[in-house]
Amino acid sequence: MKHLIDIKGVRHAYQTDAGPLQVLDGLEISVPEGGFVAVVGPSGCGKSTLTRLIAGLMKPDEGEVWLHGERVTGPRSTVGMAFQNPVLLEWRTILQNVLLPMEIVRSTLSKKQAEERARFLLSLVGLEGFEDKRPSELSGGMRQRASLCRALIHQPDVLILDEPFGALDAFTREDLWMIMHEVKAREPFTGVLITHDLRESIFLADQVVVLSGRPARTQYVLEVPRPGKPTLDDLYTGKASEQLGILRHQIEIAQGRAPTEKAST
Ligand SMILES: Nc1ncnc2c1ncn2[C@@H]1O[C@H](COP(=O)(O)OP(=O)(O)O)[C@@H](O)[C@H]1O
Ligand SMILES: [Mg+2]
Repeated sequence: MKHLIDIKGVRHAYQTDAGPLQVLDGLEISVPEGGFVAVVGPSGCGKSTLTRLIAGLMKPDEGEVWLHGERVTGPRSTVGMAFQNPVLLEWRTILQNVLLPMEIVRSTLSKKQAEERARFLLSLVGLEGFEDKRPSELSGGMRQRASLCRALIHQPDVLILDEPFGALDAFTREDLWMIMHEVKAREPFTGVLITHDLRESIFLADQVVVLSGRPARTQYVLEVPRPGKPTLDDLYTGKASEQLGILRHQIEIAQGRAPTEKAST
């Protein structure tokens, strides 16, 4: 199968005052075009480091990162990123914030087309009517939706989301999950979602990669079949509880505390 993202044998260490800190040690991740992979793993194991390597903001010490059949050797404008903190600029309106990447990356869209696209994306995430508001006038969930539009404005091949819903309350987070599915149905992209929410991982992704504790390697890969249109009820089925049980067990192994007795939920 053709892979849009291919991460092969990636190893990386940071140089610190206390000597080298080995962060990644044998990462293998392959995502087909249009696929959506969730990456879960213990805090500090190297997940954000992985996103910087995919975006070409850093080079791995060893191994290779490929996007679209090209080896990544520097920053890529075909990547869109969103983070836990939406980092919107307060002196710009929501529409101007969404358009920001268009001032930086090369694009085939004219100014007018870009603005039309920004308005379309904002309506897709339910922010129609908020185009001229300032970030502080929006709730946390709305700001995160605007930051998602900004990450998509330049039609990136790859959308990287680093714990984007981590700071939101549970209900707002579930709204955002449904919005993500709608966006995914309308806007073709290949996604990488970093999360520590296992329910989020199985609800959004079609493949969940569990990383081991630092130095991280690919410890386990769970395929999540996606028949039909997702609803939040999918999270309360026997299948979901089985998938969550598997992932929970893998996380315990990754944290170096494999359970002596298996949880019986
Ligand atoms: N620029 C850096 N220099 C030195 N150490 C770093 C740097 N960035 C991250 N680290 C360390 O590398 C480890 C992995 O970081 P990170 O990729 O942010 O982990 P995660 O996102 O999984 O929590 C952590 O221990 C972190 O403190
Ligand atoms: Mg991180």
